[in-house]
Amino acid sequence: MPQIFDRSSNALARMSLILTGLLIIALGLTLDALQRSPWVTRQGERADQPVPFSHKHHVQGLGLQCQYCHTSVEESSYAGIPPTHTCMNCHSQIWTDAQILDPVRHSWETGQSITWTRVHDLPDFVFFNHEIHVNKGIGCSSCHGRVDEMPIMYAQNSLQMEWCLNCHRNPAKNLRPTSEIYNMAWTGASELHPVWCAAETVSDGTPTSESVTCTEKQPAPSVQMADLSPPAGLHAQTMGTALSSEDTAPLLLPAGLHYTKFTSQDALGLFLIQHYKIRPPRELTSCEVCHR
Ligand code: HEC
Ligand code: HEC
Ligand code: HEC
Ligand code: HEC
Ligand code: HEC
Repeated sequence: MPQIFDRSSNALARMSLILTGLLIIALGLTLDALQRSPWVTRQGERADQPVPFSHKHHVQGLGLQCQYCHTSVEESSYAGIPPTHTCMNCHSQIWTDAQILDPVRHSWETGQSITWTRVHDLPDFVFFNHEIHVNKGIGCSSCHGRVDEMPIMYAQNSLQMEWCLNCHRNPAKNLRPTSEIYNMAWTGASELHPVWCAAETVSDGTPTSESVTCTEKQPAPSVQMADLSPPAGLHAQTMGTALSSEDTAPLLLPAGLHYTKFTSQDALGLFLIQHYKIRPPRELTSCEVCHR
């Protein structure tokens, strides 16, 4: 019986086995990289929107606050996308003939909402809540980046599990006073940029996050409560709404508080962890927090 295969084809067969093995490994590695790549997470991608809405123009240019449009971000799990009438507050008078606003006017006339493409979208099996993050001192920009500089919205971060865990393991470096959550330019406390904070002892002895008052300007020691503008203003200040801390902060500070000066983000972070009652990393990284 003549040999059908010679020796060299034997070597060839072995060679191709090894090659197949290598290919499978390479494929595995590629799929893994792909799973984490911006192509899959859509990180950085500018979505196609029915209207090219610019945060840069409306936030940085016109000075609109995030809450003007994302009204529920402090009280609910959803930040919310504004209804058409929010746009029409201005666009019934400004740019009334502009073609790029056709979909807005069409939506207004028909009552059908604009179908915005979602940019951030967690899978359904993940629990997420805006309210707790912003009320415990995580600013919009820590998760969404410099929205005020985005002509077209995109996701600054991957929103993958590892990204969430990175912060849950060590929240201190991302914590800021709740009065600063809308401040897009916040860079943390430092020698060059110190922050003063005071914790008020509430009567029952349990400080809550609302009892912390911070300022980026050295507090004047002798301001009297009686000199201050309405207490509603103070509330708005501590809750981080409407007011810009630049021109109003020193006036609104309650007197009689003992302020500590923070010149490093580590120290400020530790102070806020304590006063905002942030749970330890062991608890914040347990699976049930995000998968319920
Ligand atoms: C004038 C109204 C308006 C203001 C003010 C505004 N937004 Fe928006 N925002 C929108 C609209 C409309 C969308 C949906 C279209 C888009 O994604 O660009 C949106 C989308 C977003 C999204 C992405 C939503 C998604 O699909 O995942 C984020 C994040 C966001 N805004 C953050 C902010 C932050 C932070 C501020 C304040 C610095 C802000 N916005 C101020 C109107 C506004
Ligand atoms: C407070 C008033 C105000 C509100 C509210 C507002 N806009 Fe505008 N918008 C303006 C002004 C003013 C301009 C012109 C900006 C410029 O030329 O710099 C503008 C411009 C635009 C433009 C033209 C492109 C650009 O950015 O210059 C689009 C598109 C637009 N707005 C969409 C929207 C949508 C969608 C909403 C609702 C989610 C909205 N606007 C809400 C005032 C407003
Ligand atoms: C801890 C990170 C984090 C912070 C802080 C944060 N966001 Fe978000 N945001 C997210 C995630 C994650 C989603 C996607 C949620 C989903 O898919 O269910 C999202 C979604 C959104 C959306 C889309 C609509 C919605 O409610 O799902 C808007 C608008 C938005 N955020 C605005 C804001 C604004 C304004 C602030 C600051 C006041 C803010 N976010 C602070 C992580 C954050
Ligand atoms: C920049 C920091 C940061 C990032 C990023 C972040 N978180 Fe958080 N998260 C916090 C802090 C701080 C708390 C409050 C902890 C506390 O109160 O003990 C928190 C609390 C939570 C809670 C607890 C809610 C409750 O009611 O018990 C959930 C759920 C959660 N985060 C989910 C997520 C998910 C999902 C992501 C990623 C998509 C994420 N977080 C990203 C900082 C962050
Ligand atoms: C801080 C929030 C958070 C915690 C804590 C957390 N996860 Fe996740 N997990 C996520 C998010 C967000 C995703 C979605 C990631 C994506 O879309 O790619 C996810 C996805 C997953 C997936 C789907 C596969 C994948 O990687 O996309 C599994 C499985 C999972 N988590 C298991 C766990 C287990 C087990 C624990 C506890 C050790 C845990 N998670 C703790 C936020 C969290």
